[in-house]
Amino acid sequence: MSDRFNVSRTAVWKAIRSLEEEGYEIEAVRNKGYRLAGVPELMSEKRLFKENLGNWPGAKLCYYEETDSTNNRIDELAGSGAPEGTVAVAEEQTKGKGRRGRVWKSPKGSGLYFSVLLRPEISPHKASMLTLVKALAVAEALRNLYGLEVQIKWPNDVVVNGRKICGILTEMKMEDVYIRHIIVGTGINVNIEVFPEEIRETATSLYLELGHKVDRIELLGEVMRNLEKAYRQVVEAESLLPVLEDYNKYLVNRGRRVRVLDPAGEYEAQALFVNESGELIVETDDKEVKHVYAGEVSVRGVYGYV
Ligand code: BTN
Repeated sequence: MSDRFNVSRTAVWKAIRSLEEEGYEIEAVRNKGYRLAGVPELMSEKRLFKENLGNWPGAKLCYYEETDSTNNRIDELAGSGAPEGTVAVAEEQTKGKGRRGRVWKSPKGSGLYFSVLLRPEISPHKASMLTLVKALAVAEALRNLYGLEVQIKWPNDVVVNGRKICGILTEMKMEDVYIRHIIVGTGINVNIEVFPEEIRETATSLYLELGHKVDRIELLGEVMRNLEKAYRQVVEAESLLPVLEDYNKYLVNRGRRVRVLDPAGEYEAQALFVNESGELIVETDDKEVKHVYAGEVSVRGVYGYV
């Protein structure tokens, strides 16, 4: 190794020691070299705290080996005045929350579970746009880091090969008619090898798509940096317009038949595109064009998950 990288044997030994400290299992064979025998199950806190998560003045990162839900941690931190961009990340969630009151199973070490605090000065009815921004940040990260063909199922499921790889839960806290803060919680199926029977057909993970495990810290950094860039543009414009073309490129629903799960009454329609407010524009069978608002409604494919 020292010949190949043109560094001293001591430099190689030091690098190996530092990997061991981070939890990598390395076997050494005299006069032969080193073999990687195992990657750490948990994230290295040393590396996590060094990762560039974007430019969020004063923001902090909180790491939990176990917590009920990172969304709850961010809510508490928000209450004690934490600035926007504050992140809570957990190895395991005991009460991970999904959309529509569902549970988000969060087994130890295999997923990336994190929540971000946002304090946008925008009108509350525009808040659901931020969920779409987050989905875009994840989609771009998966494409840039791993070259995956990623799609977004409106408003915010990230999909690979027709299966869900990431879910996002946005919670908004109000004060009078203003936004007090927004919590955007993201769960990415990273190194999950097997899914429970009930979601095996509709879920996938980076491990299953790529055939190898990936570094969750690098992924977290890429998502956060993408988020910061898109978030600033969207908040300033008070519109999705600056990122709309990119979002619509990923939209898996485009041109497909969807079932709109509207609490006021479900119906089927043809999905057309997403507009600058983040609404899904659909056309019903009697040619009526409707705007579906992301805050209250979700859609599912008529012939399957997408
Ligand atoms: C969905 O149902 O698709 C949304 C899933 C959101 C899961 C994430 S994991 C981190 C954060 N904490 C939670 O309790 N939920 C979100």
